[in-house]
Amino acid sequence: MKLLLTGGMGYIGSHVAVTMAKSGHEVILFDNLVNSSSDTIKKLNKILDKDVYFYKGDLNNPNDIKSIFEKFKIDAVFHFAGYKSVKESVINPIEYYSNNMIGTINLINEMYKKNVKLLVFSSSATVYGDPKYLPIDEKHPTIPKNPYGRIKLQIEDMLDDIYSSDNNWRIACLRYFNPVGSHDSGLIGDNPTGLANNLMPIITKVASKKLKKLSVFGNDYPTVDGTGVRDYIHVMDLAEGHKMSFNYLLKNKGCFKFNLGTGKGYSVLDLLKSFIKMNHCDVPYDFTFRREGDVSECYADPNKAFEFLGWRSLRGLDEMSESAWKFLHHNEKD
Ligand SMILES: NC(=O)c1ccc[n+]([C@@H]2O[C@H](COP(=O)([O-])OP(=O)(O)OC[C@H]3O[C@@H](n4cnc5c(N)ncnc54)[C@H](O)[C@@H]3O)[C@@H](O)[C@H]2O)c1
Repeated sequence: MKLLLTGGMGYIGSHVAVTMAKSGHEVILFDNLVNSSSDTIKKLNKILDKDVYFYKGDLNNPNDIKSIFEKFKIDAVFHFAGYKSVKESVINPIEYYSNNMIGTINLINEMYKKNVKLLVFSSSATVYGDPKYLPIDEKHPTIPKNPYGRIKLQIEDMLDDIYSSDNNWRIACLRYFNPVGSHDSGLIGDNPTGLANNLMPIITKVASKKLKKLSVFGNDYPTVDGTGVRDYIHVMDLAEGHKMSFNYLLKNKGCFKFNLGTGKGYSVLDLLKSFIKMNHCDVPYDFTFRREGDVSECYADPNKAFEFLGWRSLRGLDEMSESAWKFLHHNEKD
């Protein structure tokens, strides 16, 4: 089938492109490269040993979306495109609402016009807000604490409304926990433009001496070692979760929500120790104050995804650490 991947040149989109192309689908990547590089296409071509189609376009420009739907007879859409920094969304909410919300509305409008009604949407565990209980299942209250999370939830609500108005839609909202790691080749991975916000890209930059040290926010949380606990999930497991969701949607109509996490919580120091052990390198760090808005622990109950999709994560922390480092060595940018 012909699959359109918005934001397909980015971290998660490029990994899903590999998984879906390897499953025999034609992937068409749409991206404005605001947080990715055009080099990714060469790397994807190398991994897949064939040419992948890339269209440089912006979801905020309805004509760009129109042209891609006119050029190809798209069967389904995987929607990754958007800004992803919680911190930036607090500082500049209008930019986030415009890009993430309006961009999504433009996309869905065009899908509707072309009668394309299968959508896999990148949601996020931020829709839950502070955990009321652990592990977090899909019935957990959704009270996001920042514009980024609120927009994800508003998009999910909009998708529910779209399905209620027309029961022919097949939609999966995938609530990712903390994706890390890279494809085995080390060619593609998490390489944000500008300042890295997520833990693993910062660890790799410190290990390669691009940054002096890692600041660990808080060592007085009520956790195993005092540092925050998160559900880190290997990006290739996440990509597999997209494939299984897509296969499920081929057989089922509805608007579904699934957690994509491992179900295991690891502390910042667990991840750091795994990285140092696997890659035999030094990562200087110090402790600083807790960061406002951070919770002590957050991890998924992934059982619904297993029950409905037959999906569960297979890779552990060490594979995440090893692959992230391999990617950095192949792709040092700055
Ligand atoms: N990485 C995470 O930790 C994480 C966690 C939960 C959810 N998500 C969500 O998953 C999705 C993908 O995340 P990612 O980590 O791959 O991010 P990413 O920034 O690497 O990829 C997003 C891509 O979208 C593109 N893009 C942004 N705005 C666009 C627009 N208006 N038109 C066209 N392209 C545009 C960017 O250039 C980038 O290549 C995002 O929606 C993000 O919110 C990510």
